[in-house]
Amino acid sequence: MAVSYKDLGLVNTKEGFQRAVKGGYAIPAYNFNNMEQLQAIVIGCSDSKSPVILQVSSGARKYANQTLLRFMAMGAVQMMKDMGGNIPITLHLDHGDSFDLCKSCIDTGFSSVMIDGSHLPYEENVALSKKVVEYAHAHDVTVEGELGVLAGIEDDVSHEVSHYTKPEEVEDFVKKTGVDSLAISIGTSHGAYKFKVKPGEEPPPLRFDILEEVERRIPGFPIVLHGASSVVPQYVEMINKYGGKMDDAVGVSEQQLRKAASSAVCKINIDTDGRMAVTAVIRKIFAETPKEFDPRKYLGPARDELIKMIKYKNENVLGSAGKAVY
Ligand code: G3H
Ligand code: 13P
Ligand code: ZN
Repeated sequence: MAVSYKDLGLVNTKEGFQRAVKGGYAIPAYNFNNMEQLQAIVIGCSDSKSPVILQVSSGARKYANQTLLRFMAMGAVQMMKDMGGNIPITLHLDHGDSFDLCKSCIDTGFSSVMIDGSHLPYEENVALSKKVVEYAHAHDVTVEGELGVLAGIEDDVSHEVSHYTKPEEVEDFVKKTGVDSLAISIGTSHGAYKFKVKPGEEPPPLRFDILEEVERRIPGFPIVLHGASSVVPQYVEMINKYGGKMDDAVGVSEQQLRKAASSAVCKINIDTDGRMAVTAVIRKIFAETPKEFDPRKYLGPARDELIKMIKYKNENVLGSAGKAVY
């Protein structure tokens, strides 16, 4: 039996994106795969009074079971209300790669889906995105499309090189497909190794010229930035100190993200930083207390660190803190 997100207490992205574009901030889209990540995201965003997009990849669906994930999201909405919170929560499919997957998510309570046809020839991307939009809009679900390819691993698909978004395609794409937001490629990539830089060197700046040209062509249209983890240096250090090996890990600077968030970028995707926060804390606890074997004793502190990280990002990077008060 189909389940509507409206019965789960979730919202689509429409109103939130309009507010974010006008207000010069970005709504955080944090990925989750388990209970501790979900708790941290909802508590961190509720505490900082930030709207939030809970993001589920198809890998997460396979890992945690799609039915369980839906009930977890429903439970998270209730938990937030029980704690006295009142933030808008969206449940979003990250990097949907087929109509059937998007439909299945819409039918089981997602309030937003991404159809990522960015690796397809342009006309095929248009046709697939349009088909998803038609089904989604009939259920009042919002759709994110993508133009341009990010390097890195997106679920099972790995792209060696990135292709920047061609600004001259965006008006046509948005008009033909009817998508509600558009992910673009301006130099970010997925994962912890976004740039190859020599010690002491700064990573290259994002292609703000492309973003500006996109904004000029589709003024006020919600833009999405994937691959937006900063690869927080303290976590890299901590992971390496306690037995990990992430020497060349580099992300997008907070200043660049802040600049993007104050433009038409109204959704910023963060997964890697959350993974690294959890890994850093668990490595430290394992190294310092090797006798510990109660998962709550390491997953709990990892969750606390994630809450801290999320609040920091909402306040200082995305500018979304305090914006859920309306
Ligand atoms: O875009 C990729 C996200 O970080 C999701 O990663 O497919 O390993 O769950 P995943
Ligand atoms: P990061 O790997 O930079 O966290 O990007 C996540 C993302 O784009 C999820 O769609
Ligand atoms: Zn992504």
